[in-house]
Amino acid sequence: MKLLITGGAGFIGSNFIHYILKKYPDYKIVNLDLLTYAGNLENLKDSEGNPNYKFVKGDIADAKLVNELVKEVDMIVHFAAESHVDRSILNSISFIHTNVIGTHTLLEAAKNNGNKRFHHVSTDEVFGSLAPNDPAFNEKTPYDPRSPYSASKAASDHLVRAYFHTYDLPVTISNCSNNYGPFHFPEKLIPLFITNLLEDKKVPLYGDGLNVRDWLYVEDHCAAIDLIIHKESIGETYCIGGNAEKNNREITHELLKLMDKNESFIEFVKDRPGHDKRYAINFSKIKKELGWEPRVNFTQGLKKTVEWYKNNQDWWKKIKSGEYKDYYKNQYGK
Ligand code: NAD
Ligand code: TYD
Repeated sequence: MKLLITGGAGFIGSNFIHYILKKYPDYKIVNLDLLTYAGNLENLKDSEGNPNYKFVKGDIADAKLVNELVKEVDMIVHFAAESHVDRSILNSISFIHTNVIGTHTLLEAAKNNGNKRFHHVSTDEVFGSLAPNDPAFNEKTPYDPRSPYSASKAASDHLVRAYFHTYDLPVTISNCSNNYGPFHFPEKLIPLFITNLLEDKKVPLYGDGLNVRDWLYVEDHCAAIDLIIHKESIGETYCIGGNAEKNNREITHELLKLMDKNESFIEFVKDRPGHDKRYAINFSKIKKELGWEPRVNFTQGLKKTVEWYKNNQDWWKKIKSGEYKDYYKNQYGK
């Protein structure tokens, strides 16, 4: 099996590459990544010498390049995206370019090269925001995206479904909740707070800190995608969740406790505009049909994550200082 993985130098994509190379040592992987601010080849340092792994620097919206790469593979697993809500609020043009045009370019290449199998990694944010007692999102929840990020992901999901219905493209989609774990870029809540606390800095809690997310350990997410791409589930969508609804204050308190810090490290800051109140996932479909459920509970996962950031200070300190970009120059002359 030869896989084209897009966005493999990012957080979830790099975890997925590690997962696949370990579990299927005979699979071949091509990782197509533009190395935006979020792409970091240090995430894949230990795969660099592996003859089954190849990195290609490029844009998923580059039709010529994408066509050449898709021709050579059996399947596309599509992670590449602009992924940070706050950045999409400041400027969303790159979100439209990558999440909408990039996904369309990949779908065209999959269609034009013998209808290649296509798995699209998406988010629960396409479903909008829940009130405290609303039932959790499931595969039939109507789309109601509320940030430029989630709107661009919703557009990409619709395109993927359109290619299934119109061209019989063998697609699947997964909509997952907030991931956390190793290699998570320190602009998102959990890695930002852990690294700030390791630096003895305060943590910026938006608004009242009562917004709720469901948290999924990244390895559990990789295991779910592994099942989806290996089962006959063409045309299906799966919601993937971690069974761990927490508000941001709860997470902050768990982190303060784990890291031996007190509440003086919390700084309440101005809220994010249009801040979604709550996300929650009902994952009974993937549990029933594919036998998947999360294995890592939140307390274990958070502990493992804190340990990882403690033991990999070099990795995140370079990112926080901006120095990590030099690695590309040294390794690839770019
Ligand atoms: P990330 O921001 O860490 O990584 C994105 C990767 O895509 C980076 O390596 C970046 O260089 C690459 N990329 C961006 N634009 C590109 C382009 N035009 N061409 C090629 N590569 C490009 O993101 P992540 O957190 O790993 O998310 C991966 C996928 O999972 C995304 O599609 C995201 O929407 C989805 N998702 C993420 C979460 C989460 O909690 N992180 C939750 C639900 C869904
Ligand atoms: P984030 O990690 O950006 O993921 P998403 O917005 O995609 O869910 O944010 C998770 C939650 O944490 C969200 O409610 C916003 C909040 N948050 C803060 O309170 N402070 C921060 O500095 C960040 C980045 C997020």
